Amino acid sequence: MAELQKGLEGVIAAETKVSSIIDSQLTYAGYDIDDLAQNAEFEEVIFLLWHYRLPNEAELKELKEKLFEYMTLNPRVYNHFKEYATGNVHPMTALRTSVSYIAHFDEHAEDEEESQTLERAIRIQAKIASLVTSYARVREGKEAVKPNKDLNYAGNFLYMLRGELPTDIEVEAFNKALVLHADHELNASTFTARCAVSSLSDMYSGIVAAVGSLKGPLHGGANERVMSMLSEVKSIDEVDAYIDEKIKNKEKIMGFGHRVYKDGDPRAKYLKEMSRKITAETGQSQLFDISVKIADKMKAEKGLIANVDFFSATVYHSMNIEHDLFTPIFAVSRTSGWIAHILEQYRDNRIMRPRAHYIGETDRTYEPIEKR
Ligand code: COA
Repeated sequence: MAELQKGLEGVIAAETKVSSIIDSQLTYAGYDIDDLAQNAEFEEVIFLLWHYRLPNEAELKELKEKLFEYMTLNPRVYNHFKEYATGNVHPMTALRTSVSYIAHFDEHAEDEEESQTLERAIRIQAKIASLVTSYARVREGKEAVKPNKDLNYAGNFLYMLRGELPTDIEVEAFNKALVLHADHELNASTFTARCAVSSLSDMYSGIVAAVGSLKGPLHGGANERVMSMLSEVKSIDEVDAYIDEKIKNKEKIMGFGHRVYKDGDPRAKYLKEMSRKITAETGQSQLFDISVKIADKMKAEKGLIANVDFFSATVYHSMNIEHDLFTPIFAVSRTSGWIAHILEQYRDNRIMRPRAHYIGETDRTYEPIEKR
């Protein structure tokens, strides 16, 4: 049997044309992330990940129209949120449940062929934004907001969240964040999605599984915890003592480190610049300064570089977005990548079935209960 690779480090588990990380550079279907972050609209990236090419005008228009159409949820979903919105249900838990629930209203969800089509994909990609935003509103006792046809995906997310038209600068920043988080080769949640559908299960099952994986603090859950850390550090003078204490206790500092990138995360520089700008605009530059000091210290002391989650935290915080919505926002963006990988898995499937190295007891014999 092959040797154990803990955490599957270095194991090649799939072929993909969706995205690649080569020499610390991230590309989506051959386009450098730097190019896309500066130029692309999230909807173009969705199309790119699903088709391996950028859309023409007519294709982009059609995709946008369908996304808009599918963003409206069945009223029973809002009511469903009301049932548990009064409790302390984390938005990622609500999202995991509600992605599963929306399949109930999709008459093609169980149809093997239909459950694997682009139509399912667009439907899920559209509704995931509405699920996150409407849960955020319903739990505050507010009415859900229907999407606005004049806004793009990024704009509609902010609009459905707050019920007010976002500014152009906010839409631009949010769009960039969505583009930067859309795909990332075989990260834990994407691998989870591919595993789930490798049994030829439906697309909803793949996304539910992926949401569950993203929720963890070592993956998408890190961005929310970065903000918790920043709120514990009250001033720049406290950074040294705070980080020294964590390092001494061998605690992980959220937003640092990466399995694949060892010389820096190519997405982080954009989020850092966005964070600098938006914290300055909102009079919260101190948060940025504290973040930079933490990042410099982590690099100097542990050789660890800030990843995508570190500066995204202050970007979303400065947009007045509640901290427990940071990871759901990651999910909204990453759904595009999950779906791209799910579609790829369906096209060239073999069930995922690795082996385990058994290290338990052997040669035992059943004992009647009274003898145990
Ligand atoms: N803070 C402090 N130490 C860290 C660290 C962090 N954020 N990330 C890694 N390390 C240290 C580990 O303690 C370990 O040290 P050791 O060899 O002395 O035991 C070493 O660096 C390797 O880390 P490891 O956890 O084995 O790496 P991994 O490839 O298994 O895990 C992450 C990668 C991303 C899960 C890990 O870096 C992490 O937990 N980061 C914090 C969570 C986070 O930001 N996740 C979002 C990723 S985009």
